Amino acid sequence: MSWYAFAIKVFVVIAVAAAVGALYGRAIEVVTLALLALFGFWLYQMHRVQRWLKGPEGSPPDAHGLWGELLARIYFQQRKNSEAQAQLQATVEYLQDSFAAMRDGVVMVDENGAIKWLNHAVEQLLGLRYPDDAGQTLTNLVRSPEFNSYFLGRDYSKPLQYMALVGSKRIHLRVEITRFGEGERLLFIRDVSNAVRMEQMRSDFVANVSHELRTPLTVISGYLSTFLDSAQELPPRYLKPLQQMSQQAQRMENMLKDLLWLSRIESETRTDHRELVDIRGMLQELRDELAEAYPESIVVLDLDTELSIHGDYRQLYSAVSNLAINAIKYSRPGSPVTLRWHAQDDNCLLQVQDEGIGIDPVHIPRLTERFYRVDDSRNSATGGTGLGLAIVKHVAVAHEAQLQIESKPGQGSTFTLVFPTRG
Ligand SMILES: Nc1ncnc2c1ncn2[C@@H]1O[C@H](COP(=O)(O)OP(=O)(O)OP(=O)(O)O)[C@@H](O)[C@H]1O
Ligand SMILES: [Mg+2]
Repeated sequence: MSWYAFAIKVFVVIAVAAAVGALYGRAIEVVTLALLALFGFWLYQMHRVQRWLKGPEGSPPDAHGLWGELLARIYFQQRKNSEAQAQLQATVEYLQDSFAAMRDGVVMVDENGAIKWLNHAVEQLLGLRYPDDAGQTLTNLVRSPEFNSYFLGRDYSKPLQYMALVGSKRIHLRVEITRFGEGERLLFIRDVSNAVRMEQMRSDFVANVSHELRTPLTVISGYLSTFLDSAQELPPRYLKPLQQMSQQAQRMENMLKDLLWLSRIESETRTDHRELVDIRGMLQELRDELAEAYPESIVVLDLDTELSIHGDYRQLYSAVSNLAINAIKYSRPGSPVTLRWHAQDDNCLLQVQDEGIGIDPVHIPRLTERFYRVDDSRNSATGGTGLGLAIVKHVAVAHEAQLQIESKPGQGSTFTLVFPTRG
């Protein structure tokens, strides 16, 4: 019913009341009575609507005319809302069911760090319980300083991996945190103990084999150099093979040395041997050493910052010396090599630049793989093992630095270690 029809209806009631009243000479009283009756009827309807709205959801009371239409519209809106809500609830339940079925732990935390929801897997991984622990502050329940400082640190760009104690068992957990909504956080927790164990076995194996091979190799190269020391007594046809054997034994020794060093860097945790390293002094020391080992090389120092960094001196030294020796090896004799220590924005750059043969861009993504060499024949001439850049990469990772490689074939290469400056 439209407003227009409603108004006509009121008007007709007043007109009829006035006409009937006029018959008895009491028009005003009858009209007032009719209006009062109408007003009373509206009050009654309003009361019914209010009672219906307050009560549990259900179909509206019977009503006609404008009231009926009003009720029907409100009822329609109500149903639409509750349908949408039911759909939303179903989606939330579906998502919770899928999270609940996951083997990885999932925890939802609100903007104040209180637990909203967690799945079954978390009960085993972090020892939490749901719904008992809902509403509790997560960092009060997880008693790991590493976990708590990561969670409160609010930099979640990299996942956290740490060792946790579950009952009497030590497990390795990997935690990733994603923000969503208004300050809420979603945590994914995975038990990576198996992967860590495999990795440990692999690196132990390499370290053990390298170690075990050193003694027989020392014996072989020892005998070879004894033979070569008295070369004039040897039949001439043995000379060349013995020289080559000695060269290759030397290469193998270098390789074992690099492999052992690599597995040592891998096994050292980030906080081992941390000290303030004076990079300027380190580069000066390296330049002096290179001048002795490669007399024809020209090593230029370009040091424009006094900054020191927290790190492991031996590791950093081995990384830069690998880069510098590469720069010398893969350049023409006498071509300059620059060692640069330079501050830029929030970073410090440790750069080794040469004007040597350069590297084809196709090789650059793979250079830091173990044993990867651009050109085998060339490298057997230079005696490389392909482990140098793998060491550099590991040292970079251990120091939270990035290794950047720029190179143009025929023009030279620049290897840069980018250290974030902290504090
Ligand atoms: N400055 C450079 N200029 C040109 N090529 C380079 C340079 N540095 C590295 N390379 C290429 O990258 C390859 C990998 O270098 P890497 O230092 O890992 O091994 P390597 O020098 O052959 O052996 P080593 O283990 O003795 O260092 C090299 O074989 C070489 O081809
Ligand atoms: Mg090298």
